[in-house]
Amino acid sequence: MAQTPLKFGNTVLRDGHQSLAATRMTTAQMLPALEDLDALGFSCLETWGGATIDAGLRFLKEFPFDRLDALRKGTPKTPHMMLLRGQNIVQYSNFPDDVVEAFVACAARHGMDIFRIFDALNDLRNIETAVRAAKHAGKHAQGVLCYTSSPFHTVEKFIELGVEIERMGCDSICIKDMAGLIPPYKAALMVRGIKQRVKIPVVLHTHETAGLGAPTYYAGIEAGVDEIDVSISPFANGTGQPDTVRMLALLEDHPRCPQFDRARLARLGEHFAGVYRELHAFTNPANERVDTEALAFQVPGGMLSNFRNQLKEQRMEDRFDDVFREIPYVRQCLGWIPLVTPTSQIVGVQAILNVKFGRWKNFSPQATDLALGLYGRTPAPVDPEVRAIAARKSGKDPVECRPADLLKPRMADLRKELTAKGLPADDEHCVIYAMFPRELEDYLTAKQRAGETPPADDNGREANPAPRAAAPSPAVAQPAPGGREAPRSPGAVFQPDVPRRFAITVDGQRHEVTLEDID
Ligand code: CO
Repeated sequence: MAQTPLKFGNTVLRDGHQSLAATRMTTAQMLPALEDLDALGFSCLETWGGATIDAGLRFLKEFPFDRLDALRKGTPKTPHMMLLRGQNIVQYSNFPDDVVEAFVACAARHGMDIFRIFDALNDLRNIETAVRAAKHAGKHAQGVLCYTSSPFHTVEKFIELGVEIERMGCDSICIKDMAGLIPPYKAALMVRGIKQRVKIPVVLHTHETAGLGAPTYYAGIEAGVDEIDVSISPFANGTGQPDTVRMLALLEDHPRCPQFDRARLARLGEHFAGVYRELHAFTNPANERVDTEALAFQVPGGMLSNFRNQLKEQRMEDRFDDVFREIPYVRQCLGWIPLVTPTSQIVGVQAILNVKFGRWKNFSPQATDLALGLYGRTPAPVDPEVRAIAARKSGKDPVECRPADLLKPRMADLRKELTAKGLPADDEHCVIYAMFPRELEDYLTAKQRAGETPPADDNGREANPAPRAAAPSPAVAQPAPGGREAPRSPGAVFQPDVPRRFAITVDGQRHEVTLEDID
């Protein structure tokens, strides 16, 4: 067994509050913790990406790059890590290569060091551009394999995926278990198998949701994993990562146990306990408990609690078990896809539609695209009958190519649009606008109203400071899978049609379902 010291990456500033406080931690709440976080010797701090960019802009009215700058300034010693959804960047659908490249370049320029890049289908073609862009910027590209359990996903399949990730030029591999479902023994087999076949470091990322997190880490450590992700309580354990103090206790006297300053850790714990109390409106005791139900359904715990609330609101609580039993069926038909943003949302909504209306009677636009290959290659083939129904109902043809190859460059148009609106049109604003057009406009309008310096365009001219009505962009119109769809141009699927809220019409009544990001 390798006796190299184990590394701890810290997730409290991203996954910690995304998993336990609906991604609502503000930059102001992070700042007092930075000195201690930076001094402790974590191998990296996860500070950005996942749902934080969306939530920060939408709910906290923070411009994403401003947060990155502030965090970077406060932690000069420790590398920063961000979670990137491959070709989806930090959204739910594919973006053209030039937008992905510009996003990565901007993040690198603002101090991001490690890009943890995943694709929900484990289709490595969907992470190629981001990996190349990170390398081009002289940064660390970490390729991800999303763990899921299915008859298709053998340990050997994951090992092969790890080998492919090294072959494509990544600097490290992350085994990402976003749902906390890897059993310890299986994690050890995966880690050992991958370590035997690759030279680059292997990171293990899991959640404590089902009570398996810390034992799984221990097994991975024994099998030679190079690094694990931990957080700081109370933004730890439960649906989050195991906390640092507990992992240190678990590893006491272990030859690979890293050294951490306990006094600083205690101080951080106190700080974050205060923040957790401040965020009580967004925390949920159910997320703090060990939830073995997630194991029975093999779905992320966050999906369970979220769904239960949603179904209750819609007076469908008696169908909860039916909906959850439908999830493995939908996954199987769609090629045994892992459940992670955005597939967790897509599968969840389709399961509801199948239970409500009969199987595949009502195909959501996103499930349609998934079945037709527009999100990429699924791990196993899509059920041919389901693919045929999707093609017939949508009038679209299945594709086999890398989906982003169908997309035209957009940066020039984004810049033109922003300039025409009198808004800043630098690359930072363009890439955020590509993903969150309405949210960015709302943010900039609110900022102007608050009497701050009016935004200037890229030529430095002052923009029109008059408040404008924030017209909803058609690009973010909420899809209504249960209702009648507006006609979609062939390219429309690649616009950011955010399936954050789904409308479902049942017996003439319209209901909305909101699903959380699982990553
Ligand atoms: Co996670």
